[in-house]
Amino acid sequence: MPSACGSDALPLTVGAVAVESGADLLIRAAQANDVRRIAQIHVRAWQWAYPDLLPAAFLARLSVVRRATYWRRWLAEAAPHRQLWLVSRDMRRIGFAATGPSRDADGDPSTGEIHALYLEPAAVGTGAGRTLCGHAEAHLRHEGFRAATLWTFEWNARARRFYERRGWHLEGREKTDEWGGRVLREVRYRMALEP
Ligand SMILES: CC(C)(COP(=O)(O)OP(=O)(O)OC[C@H]1O[C@@H](n2cnc3c(N)ncnc32)[C@H](O)[C@@H]1OP(=O)(O)O)[C@@H](O)C(=O)NCCC(=O)NCCS
Repeated sequence: MPSACGSDALPLTVGAVAVESGADLLIRAAQANDVRRIAQIHVRAWQWAYPDLLPAAFLARLSVVRRATYWRRWLAEAAPHRQLWLVSRDMRRIGFAATGPSRDADGDPSTGEIHALYLEPAAVGTGAGRTLCGHAEAHLRHEGFRAATLWTFEWNARARRFYERRGWHLEGREKTDEWGGRVLREVRYRMALEP
């Protein structure tokens, strides 16, 4: 996958913590005590990114506690190849990504997935997204996956532009899910991960 931007450097493992530093950014594997911050970033990112997509009342009710429970379980399950990554700038945790095997019924074992990629609103457009996404792609490649997929809301123009610039392409796969009483379409992107 020659990515257009971001770092493709393999993660360096220090003890149990993978780190990658580039410019002023640090990426490391998330720990249990990062979960609340991850949930906070997740909720804020939804509230910032989806106001035209989801009802205001639904966005206002998003719960950091519930999202923290979700990510705590995700981390504790220790499923093979699953990893939660945190990006920090000046010691402040500003974004996260989740990587692992494809969850899709048609995803074979050689296909990985970026399950989530979120920055806090203040960090959008600062280069943190590129570095984090580059790290997620490189990590999946390092884990031996030959391709990666990700789902995004069809409407999420900023994220779609971001992925397309990195070399991700639409696969023609779609699904719908209900969020806050609205049925929303998601589209799947794919990227080949050459060794
Ligand atoms: C999707 C998302 C991760 C993409 O991140 P992003 O902010 O677009 O990406 P970056 O942080 O790498 O920023 C890139 C932009 O910052 C600019 N930039 C500023 N300083 C920069 C620097 N030091 N290095 C690199 N780029 C820099 C780039 O030119 C680029 O601008 P452009 O978008 O006008 O081309 C982010 O928008 C986000 O979290 N959105 C909300 C949640 C979301 O939709 N998640 C995806 C769910 S599928």
